[in-house]
Amino acid sequence: MSQIERPRRSALYLPASNAKAIAKARTLPADVVILDLEDAVAPEAKVEARAAALAAVAEGGFGRRELVIRANGLDTPWGAEDLAAIATSGADAVLVPKVSSPADIEACQDALSAAPDRLQLWAMIETCACLPQLDAIAAMARSTRLSLFVMGTNDLAKEMRAKLTPERTPFLPFLSMAVAAARAHGVAVLDGVCNEFRDLDVFRAEAEQGLLFGFDGKTLIHPAQIDPCNAVFSPSEEELQRARTVIAAFALPENAGKGAIQVEGKMAELLHLDQAQRLVAVAEQIAATAV
Ligand code: COA
Ligand code: MG
Repeated sequence: MSQIERPRRSALYLPASNAKAIAKARTLPADVVILDLEDAVAPEAKVEARAAALAAVAEGGFGRRELVIRANGLDTPWGAEDLAAIATSGADAVLVPKVSSPADIEACQDALSAAPDRLQLWAMIETCACLPQLDAIAAMARSTRLSLFVMGTNDLAKEMRAKLTPERTPFLPFLSMAVAAARAHGVAVLDGVCNEFRDLDVFRAEAEQGLLFGFDGKTLIHPAQIDPCNAVFSPSEEELQRARTVIAAFALPENAGKGAIQVEGKMAELLHLDQAQRLVAVAEQIAATAV
């Protein structure tokens, strides 16, 4: 399965120190489970949380869900040991916080030298310093394990001293720049969390905004957010219908060799055929991996 086409509609964070949440995550329909050692874990619980995350990965039971551990930064007392332990943990990916430069990716790559090739490196995009370096950071995917960006909108709001409103106005340029940098280098990209987990209307609007911006999926903090998130980031029946119509139209003998055709009153170019084929492939992957 290509990494890009793998469904990553919903990525649920949980504190690795919360045994009950870990047990629950094994039963939830999230595409990705992120065991957090960083922001969701208090300093005095860090070492215990690391051991709990390693034990959870070793125990397994997460089925087809991608299993990720978020480490503490290499500039903290726990970062180096986190990365050394995660390297050989059997997790699918390690998510590293506050990546601000290509050098940060290089340092993580070096710290993961003992890891098998299949371990991916995912990077939190959540510092002001990374903004002018987004393209250079994403370009590290060519020479390192880097394969995915995760927006850290809470940290970004803190650093910028901006307000995280439902519209997310101060962050919109940042979000689209991160998506563009990721796409330019074949890196996947997930949107930040919505702190509002009781009001699912607020959540759904934010998830739809993320879809509009091109994100592959969204990071989540609560089980209630998973179903609406999966629904928003799954191709709709209407979109699939249009995609199949475009694919069928290009396959007609009279359209052979054409770059632009008319499909149900709208122009369709070969680029739309590419988009249609991708959409159908995404839907097939989702159907094939349904939990
Ligand atoms: N993953 C798995 N299970 C979770 C969960 C999560 N992120 N958040 C809550 N649950 C579980 C609870 O354990 C509880 O289980 P139970 O029904 O078996 O008792 C159930 O879902 C309902 O939880 P609820 O009472 O609604 O929420 P809460 O008040 O216990 O927790 C939070 C609220 C925000 C503290 C909690 O959702 C959480 O820790 N989220 C993740 C935070 C995080 O990882 N942040 C870092 C990235 S931003
Ligand atoms: Mg953070």
